[in-house]
Amino acid sequence: MTEQWFDVVPASELKPGEHKDFIVDDVDILILNVDGNFFAVENLCTHDGGDLSAGEIEGDEIICPRHGARFCLKTGEATMPPAYEDIDTFSVREKEGMLQVKME
Ligand code: FES
Repeated sequence: MTEQWFDVVPASELKPGEHKDFIVDDVDILILNVDGNFFAVENLCTHDGGDLSAGEIEGDEIICPRHGARFCLKTGEATMPPAYEDIDTFSVREKEGMLQVKME
């Protein structure tokens, strides 16, 4: 399986507390800056396909705005029903000021 890093957005455009979604290699990915740490998760709630980009962040979890499921941003683990399946997470790094996401 081939891995590839994709340039997504300058790190300076995603301040602490902000998150935005991007299409990367045909996948809708949400990139988040939580207290200066960057995370990347698939922007798709496993309960019923909710758009997580409108969700609130609490600690290292994101809350689906539709029915309140929670997911860990570090592992993708579904931590609160009604979602029971994890979401995909992606490696994210900053290189020369650009945030990059690794896709397989
Ligand atoms: S679609 Fe996300 S909790 Fe239902």
